[in-house]
Amino acid sequence: MVSARGRSLVALDGSPVRGGSVDLLLEAVCDGARAAGGEATHVVCDGLEVKPCQACGPDATTGFCVFHDDMDGVYAALRDAHAVVVGSPIYFDAVSAQLKLVMDRCNCITPLVRRPGGGEGFRPLWPRTRRGAFVTACSTRHRYDLAERSVRGFLKWIGARWEETLAWQHEDNDAGSVARDPALLERARALGRRLIEAAPLEV
Ligand SMILES: Cc1cc2nc3c(=O)[nH]c(=O)nc-3n(C[C@H](O)[C@H](O)[C@H](O)COP(=O)(O)O)c2cc1C
Repeated sequence: MVSARGRSLVALDGSPVRGGSVDLLLEAVCDGARAAGGEATHVVCDGLEVKPCQACGPDATTGFCVFHDDMDGVYAALRDAHAVVVGSPIYFDAVSAQLKLVMDRCNCITPLVRRPGGGEGFRPLWPRTRRGAFVTACSTRHRYDLAERSVRGFLKWIGARWEETLAWQHEDNDAGSVARDPALLERARALGRRLIEAAPLEV
């Protein structure tokens, strides 16, 4: 039995709908991580005060960002996370604006820096030891692969590796309709358990 004690999972939630399908799926992920003995933090991007990224360029600050707002807490949570699960409804084939604001502000986790001998390069602040996943909801007639691509790139940028996507694809317009699919919610709980119990990735 692997001990998850002292490990934390961060669930980054791009949905503004409390009790919606993404919320329910991420709560199930968090329940799974907690049931395995870990900690889980459900971060609702819609509730954060976050300025948009200004693309301030290389060496703009010795900290994470030139701005200090609710991202300070997000950076700390992601830095200390053992695993990261990103959730978003599909909005016009993409992630929600709430999540995109937070993702863009994480550009500084792998900043562009000036090299001592000249030139510039990206320097990750954190080793890529975290496992990650994407949780989403959209219509059965629409696609989520474009959002998944964006989230996979984001996870890489913050020192995580995408491992799987759980998608609730529905025919209805009912908030929280994933509750009608207990098997998918159980898969979300299993995902939380697996991610918190798995060893860190080798670097
Ligand atoms: C602004 C906006 C844009 C949307 N665009 C899409 C879309 O491109 N494809 C899709 O399948 N659903 C789209 N939807 C519907 C949501 O993705 C869908 O209802 C989802 O299940 C909501 O999940 P949530 O309640 O957990 O936030 C859109 C909804 C909104 C509000």
